[in-house]
Amino acid sequence: MHRIACKGAIYTVTFQEKVRQVLQEKEVPLDKAIRSLNICSKELEPYITQPQGMLEYGRNVIYRNQQVEVIVVYLPPFAKTLVHDHGFSKGEVYVVQGSLLNLIYHKDLSVNKIESYKADESFHVQGDTIHLMFNPTPFEVISFHVYSPPLAHNQTYPAEGRE
Ligand SMILES: [Fe+2]
Repeated sequence: MHRIACKGAIYTVTFQEKVRQVLQEKEVPLDKAIRSLNICSKELEPYITQPQGMLEYGRNVIYRNQQVEVIVVYLPPFAKTLVHDHGFSKGEVYVVQGSLLNLIYHKDLSVNKIESYKADESFHVQGDTIHLMFNPTPFEVISFHVYSPPLAHNQTYPAEGRE
C-alpha cells in the first residue's frame, strides 16, 4: 500500500483521493478545505510538472468536479506566471513551499500592490483579480490552488504590466 508521511500523519490514500474527499463537501469554504488537507510539499512531488511551451512555470490540474478545480503550480527559481484574471471564479492560493510575490494590477495593467507570501500562508483571488505570481528567490516554489467554479473565461494579458 502507498503510504505518505506528512506533518506527523500517515496517509494510505493518494493525495488526489484526499483532495476528492475534502472537496466533495459542497459547503466548505475553500480556505478551510485547504487547511484541512494539511498539505506538505513531499506529497505534492508526484504532481509537480515542469514549465511547458512559453510558460515559465509548471501547471497541473489534479482534480476537477462541477464545483471546483484544483491546480498545483511549480515556479522554478526567478520564474513568474503570466498576468491573468480568473474569469468568473474565486480562488484560494496556498503556498506549500518557498516564498513568492503576488503582483496585483489595476485594469489598465499598472501595478496596484505587491504582496509577499511564504510557505503555509494563503491568499484569495476574485474572478476580476488581475495578477501574476513571481518567485524572486533561487529556491523552488510550489503553490496549491483551488477555484470555484472551475476556471473558464479566464484571460491572460500580454503585458507584464508597468511599475
Ligand atoms: Fe491567478
